[in-house]
Amino acid sequence: MTPTREISAEQTAREQELVERVQRSFDDCADPRLKEVMQAAVKHLHAFVREVRLTEDEWNKGIDFLTAVGHITDDKRQEFILLSDTLGVSMQTIAINNEAYGNATEATVFGPFFVEGSPEIELGGDMSGGAAGEPCWVEGTVADAEGKPIPGAKIEVWEADEDGFYDVQYDDDRVAARAHLFTDSEGRYRFWGITPTPYPIPHDGPVGKMLEATGRSPMRASHLHFMVEAPGCRTLVTHIFVRGDELLDSDTVFGVKESLVKDFDRQPVGTPTPDGRVVDGTWSKVRFDVVLAPAQT
Ligand code: BEZ
Ligand code: FE
Repeated sequence: MTPTREISAEQTAREQELVERVQRSFDDCADPRLKEVMQAAVKHLHAFVREVRLTEDEWNKGIDFLTAVGHITDDKRQEFILLSDTLGVSMQTIAINNEAYGNATEATVFGPFFVEGSPEIELGGDMSGGAAGEPCWVEGTVADAEGKPIPGAKIEVWEADEDGFYDVQYDDDRVAARAHLFTDSEGRYRFWGITPTPYPIPHDGPVGKMLEATGRSPMRASHLHFMVEAPGCRTLVTHIFVRGDELLDSDTVFGVKESLVKDFDRQPVGTPTPDGRVVDGTWSKVRFDVVLAPAQT
């Protein structure tokens, strides 16, 4: 660490005067919210630069880093969101915007691998679409915060295969390990998926370099993504995690919440399945009961 050196009162006053002058430049902004956001951004950015006594060389490196983040970003890859995710900013924004409501299920990070227009499956159908992995029976209910079951709730599910890749990461046009289904008249759902396994976030770009340079792992704890929508309810974007996964405490995007860690019970070879399907090897089963908060909270 660089030794801290005394900063004279004159220097401090000069730095502070600049902060205030830049903040005042937004005084006439017609949009009060934009003004608030810009003035706070200036306040905190300057505080950061002053706290670490940023050198010009470091400032240049930071600009180069952000330029690289921009260059690798296109309609398929969003490196800025990945940066926000790995700095915990995505989870902080989710925390602010999805305040706890009664026993409503907690939200977590969306991630870059959701695709609009997933295939619809029947209740009890298979969302794996041939993706490699151990079969996993997933079942549960969707209810409102008063405990009333919600029929017809739309459930989107997506996950990586056992090699740690989402379908969209392959060069072909496969659609696999993603689907949507609707709850039945009693708010119940069930489907076959695959037992989640850990995988790294895309780390062949500047965010990966940042993780490597700082000694951080790119790995995400094993998870299965859900997005649950129903009229009058707050849309829930979340995942469930696998109890016992050793990455639960070091998920690189800080997405794990204790309430979302579930028992994926592994069933020995030959165990009869809930729907009579014949499975060659082991399979797992998990229960996930979803509670949706009302829309206006
Ligand atoms: C994911 O879970 O799919 C994910 C989330 C954040 C960053 C990268 C991947
Ligand atoms: Fe994921």
